Amino acid sequence: MDPRESAAFWNERYRDVDRLWSPNPNALLAELAAGIAPGRAVDLGAGEGRNAIWLAKNGWSVTAVDVSDVGLERAARRAAEEGVELECVVSDWREYRAPSPLDLAVIAFMHPRPDDRKRMFSSARDMLGSGGHLFTVGVDLSELDRRGPRDAERLYTPERLSLALTGLELLRCETVAYEGEGTEGSRPVVDVVAIARRPATEPS
Ligand SMILES: C[S@@+](CC[C@H](N)C(=O)[O-])C[C@H]1O[C@@H](n2cnc3c(N)ncnc32)[C@H](O)[C@@H]1O
Repeated sequence: MDPRESAAFWNERYRDVDRLWSPNPNALLAELAAGIAPGRAVDLGAGEGRNAIWLAKNGWSVTAVDVSDVGLERAARRAAEEGVELECVVSDWREYRAPSPLDLAVIAFMHPRPDDRKRMFSSARDMLGSGGHLFTVGVDLSELDRRGPRDAERLYTPERLSLALTGLELLRCETVAYEGEGTEGSRPVVDVVAIARRPATEPS
């Protein structure tokens, strides 16, 4: 989908309901963030901002990026209501570039077509400072027709993710069965999670 089609598709999904996603952060992201020092983060495809707002509440300086202005307006409204600072940028991930190196890039439940997958993760990698982390989580292929896009090629396997995460040190890349957050509370889900780090540059 081109950026205008993506925006129209996602805006319609957000307008259909008061809330499309859980207000709670992804548990696997919260686990990672608890173990690293807060810094500068970008959440690509931030949606209603559940992960971005949680990071901001936990000391991170966060930019939420999404192609949907409807989703991001909700994120901005909630951040204001909860008294946290959140920068919101309406943009396609293909066009967004962080103005300074990041300590953390988050990509949660973005399932582009295979030809775009590597591009998306490379774009996130290029925004990381040395030692910066990339966190991603997406629906496991075994969940086809239950969750996520109804297109087997767009869902994740650890192999697909590891092939897409080039130029990074892979710290974790696996299928995880856990309690995921839905709008009706938590329920068992199977996702693929990957955590990678941009290697620290060698001192010259
Ligand atoms: C499944 S939702 C996940 C939202 C959020 N990451 C979360 O976990 O709650 C996917 C999000 O990606 C956004 N998105 C889809 N294509 C995009 C693109 N090309 N550039 C930026 N955002 C995009 C959608 O608008 C939507 O908010």
